[in-house]
Amino acid sequence: MADEAVAGDFEPLRANDRRSSIGLIFFKFFSVLFLAGALCYLFISNFNSSTPDAKKFSLSFEKQDALNIRPLIKESTVKEKQLKKEVCDLSVGEWIPNHAGPAYTNETCNQIPRYLNCLKNERPDTGYLHWRWKPSACDLPYIDPLKFLNAMRNKSIAFLGASICHNLVVSLTCLLSKVEKARDIFHDSTFSTRTWHYSSHNLTLYVIWAPFLIHYETIDNHGDKSQIDTHLHLDILDSKWTSEYNKFDYVVISGGPDFYRSSIIYENNQVIGCHYCPHLKLRNLATDKIYRRALQLSLKFIATSEHKPFVILRTWSPSHYEDGEFPNERVCSRTMPFREGEISGAPSDLKMRDVEVVEFEKAATIGARNGVRMELLDTYHLSLLRPDGHPGPYGTCHPFDSDKKKKLQNDCLHWCLPGPIDTWNELLLKMLISGDTGGSVSALL
Ligand SMILES: *[C@@H]1O[C@H](CO)[C@@H](O)[C@H](O)[C@H]1NC(C)=O
Ligand SMILES: *[C@@H]1O[C@H](CO)[C@@H](O)[C@H](O)[C@H]1NC(C)=O
Ligand SMILES: *[C@@H]1O[C@H](CO)[C@@H](O)[C@H](O)[C@H]1NC(C)=O
Repeated sequence: MADEAVAGDFEPLRANDRRSSIGLIFFKFFSVLFLAGALCYLFISNFNSSTPDAKKFSLSFEKQDALNIRPLIKESTVKEKQLKKEVCDLSVGEWIPNHAGPAYTNETCNQIPRYLNCLKNERPDTGYLHWRWKPSACDLPYIDPLKFLNAMRNKSIAFLGASICHNLVVSLTCLLSKVEKARDIFHDSTFSTRTWHYSSHNLTLYVIWAPFLIHYETIDNHGDKSQIDTHLHLDILDSKWTSEYNKFDYVVISGGPDFYRSSIIYENNQVIGCHYCPHLKLRNLATDKIYRRALQLSLKFIATSEHKPFVILRTWSPSHYEDGEFPNERVCSRTMPFREGEISGAPSDLKMRDVEVVEFEKAATIGARNGVRMELLDTYHLSLLRPDGHPGPYGTCHPFDSDKKKKLQNDCLHWCLPGPIDTWNELLLKMLISGDTGGSVSALL
């Protein structure tokens, strides 16, 4: 053919040319189709790869209904935030597969208490260890324990809260243990309030048992369940943390679920009502009202204090109880994260987070005028997507040893270690080191 063309055989060449140009059009057309197809395929397979077992979680509608799973109330806000990819907001992102697994194991960290040591308690699935939080608009680097310890030289960090707070601090000590093991320098008789010291970096960690932030008394009811043992004072702060406040360079408020307990409420040392005690003839006070008052009082103290540590309020830790096989049995047996939009969360939990966001914003404005730095560490939503991260029945030693059918006490509140709560620390350490959430988390709400 080429020879013919050279020979000046014009017609065949033109015909050939025409053929080839038609061919070219077809070629282009199919290439475009092919490329589009390939892109779609890549997109879909990429999507699937982030949820390797996606089928497992596409629940039937009936099941979804039974589980109270419907679009998140603030879903539109989350989507909007995701679209604004240029804004680095650590709380907006997705869980992506992480083949490397967690930064520590129950062997490298010997601090993990039994009730959080899911592996030791023979939890059989380990998929929950292989996810990593990826903020949409920024990278969350792996924790560099040495860099963190160096940045925190001569500093003190106080964690205020109760059991979830302990959960968080154990995760932190585990993450740092590769570089240095903390020395226990103080603990009370129940190991609830503790102090650790990192000698080679002179960093002190305080964990202060202040489940309500406000003053409370626990009265021994001698097993009489009709007696309420928690007595809360709405107008008095818990001196356990306020008396030591001047020592702290950083304060992390990490409280929560104790507010759901039955309690008798006082103001001015007078009983003004009760929370969840229908058998007593007292005015009922809702959980979120009590929490709001406790936060208002605490955050006001912080925002107007002469001493000005950097204060971080971690948002509510969602629980994932679902109905189990037995009547009144509440379980959390999922082994995969939820995808965006698949879960709405318990309305009571959402309400508590809303209280935090509102009260925090108000206090932070006052704090800013007083030169107090306050930030919100918004872990609520990313944690809500992790129903697979709780101990469930594996909060106790060999739960199924005796009787597989036995009704078990499931812990769907605390978090297995290692587990999703390690991510809270990754975010926290990033905030502490850089002092940067990469744009105000709360401003976007
Ligand atoms: C760690 O977990 C494994 C199970 O994965 C268990 O056999 C072992 O006893 C645990 N070790 C510690 C120190 O908790
Ligand atoms: C830590 O404190 C020691 C002793 O007070 C001092 O020599 C050192 O410079 C301090 N280091 C930093 C990073 O502040
Ligand atoms: C450790 O840090 C504290 C401040 O938190 C400082 O007063 C003390 O001098 C430091 N000690 C050493 C040995 O650097």
